[in-house]
Amino acid sequence: MMKKRVGVINSGGDCPGLNTVIDAIVKSLGNDYEVLGFFKGFEGLLDNDYIILDRNYTSEHRWIGGTFLKSVNKGHFPGKLGHGQTTKAEDDVIKQAFVNYNALNLEGLFIIGGDGTLSMASSLMEYGFKVIGVPKSIDNDLMFTDFTFGFHTAIEVASDALDKLHTTATSHDRVMILEVMGRDAGWIGLYSGIAGGANMILIPEIPFKYENILEFILKRRRFKRMSTVIVVSEGAVPLDGEVTLKNNGGQSSEVLLGGVSEQIARYLNQNEDIEARATVLGHLQRGGSPNSFDRILSTLYGAESANLFKDRKFGKMVAYKNNEIIEVEIADAVKHLKNVDPKSQIINEARSVGIDFGD
Ligand code: F6P
Repeated sequence: MMKKRVGVINSGGDCPGLNTVIDAIVKSLGNDYEVLGFFKGFEGLLDNDYIILDRNYTSEHRWIGGTFLKSVNKGHFPGKLGHGQTTKAEDDVIKQAFVNYNALNLEGLFIIGGDGTLSMASSLMEYGFKVIGVPKSIDNDLMFTDFTFGFHTAIEVASDALDKLHTTATSHDRVMILEVMGRDAGWIGLYSGIAGGANMILIPEIPFKYENILEFILKRRRFKRMSTVIVVSEGAVPLDGEVTLKNNGGQSSEVLLGGVSEQIARYLNQNEDIEARATVLGHLQRGGSPNSFDRILSTLYGAESANLFKDRKFGKMVAYKNNEIIEVEIADAVKHLKNVDPKSQIINEARSVGIDFGD
C-alpha cells in the first residue's frame, strides 16, 4: 500500500523539545505515513530541502536540544516583526511553496512554532495548505495554552542563574540584575523570579519607575538586607518610557530586545552607596536538553497533533489547559499575545511574599 505523505516544519527561534515533538509525531503517525522533515522552516519547502524521517533517527535525537531540522526566524516567510507589526510572505513565494507541496503529494503539514510561525501557518491555509499547529516558545506567549514547550526549561535555567547571583550578591553586598528573554511577555521573568527568589521582578506588563527600584534597595538596606537580586524581562519598560532595543531587525527579521538590565545598573550606580552589576542570560535559556516537564509536554503535543492529523482536523493547534491536551483554532491562538495579567493571583501572591514589581 502507498504510504500517505506529510511534512513537518519547525520555524522561528529554536527551543528545547523540538526534536521530542518531531519524534512523537513520527511514532504516533505510524507505518502508514511517510514523514518529510523540511530544513530551515518554510525555506526547506521552498527549496525542496528535506529528509524522510526515520523513527530510529528521531528516537535517538528526541532528548537533544535544538532541532536537527535547523531553523530560521527570517527569510521568505517572516511571521511577525514584533511589537504588533505583522508581515506576510510574498504571494508568489507562497504559490511556489504550494506547487512544491502538491508535487510532493503532501496531505498536510505539521507546523511547530511560536506566534510568528503560527501566524504564517494560519495565512497559508488561505492558499490551500492543510496544517496542524504545535505551540513552541520559551516565551510562553501563545493564547489558549497554559504552557508552550521550552518555557519550563528556560525558567529552570534562569532560576538556577538567580540562585548563583544570590551567593555573589551576598558576598559583596551588591545589587545583581539578571536580564531574561521573553520579548513582550513577562512569563520567564515572573516564573524564574519566584522560583529563584528574586527580591524584585520587572516585567513588560507592569511598567517600573527607576526611583522605585532605588527606594526598594535603600529600604532593604535599612532592614540590614544589604544585597538585592532583581530579575528583569528584556521587554520591561519604565513608566512613560520605551522598550530597550538591541536592533530594529530588518524587513524579514524580528526586532531584537535587550539592554534594559545595563540601563538599570547604570542608573543605580550613580548612587555611590550602591554597586550594581548586570548579567544578560541570553541564549543559554534556549539551549540544551528539555527538562522533564518539557519532555512530557512535547511528547504529548506531538502524539496528539498526530491524532488531529489522522482525524483531518486541519487548522487546529494542540494546547495544554488544566492538565489536559486540547485542540484550539490556530487562527484564534495568534490573534493576540498572551501576557501576564498584572491583577492575577500569581502577581498578588508574589507581592504578598514581599516581591516588589518596581511600580
Ligand atoms: O522568541 C524567543 C526568543 O528567544 C525571545 O525570547 C528573544 O527575544 C528572541 O527569541 C531572540 O532571538 P534571536 O535568537 O534571533 O536572537
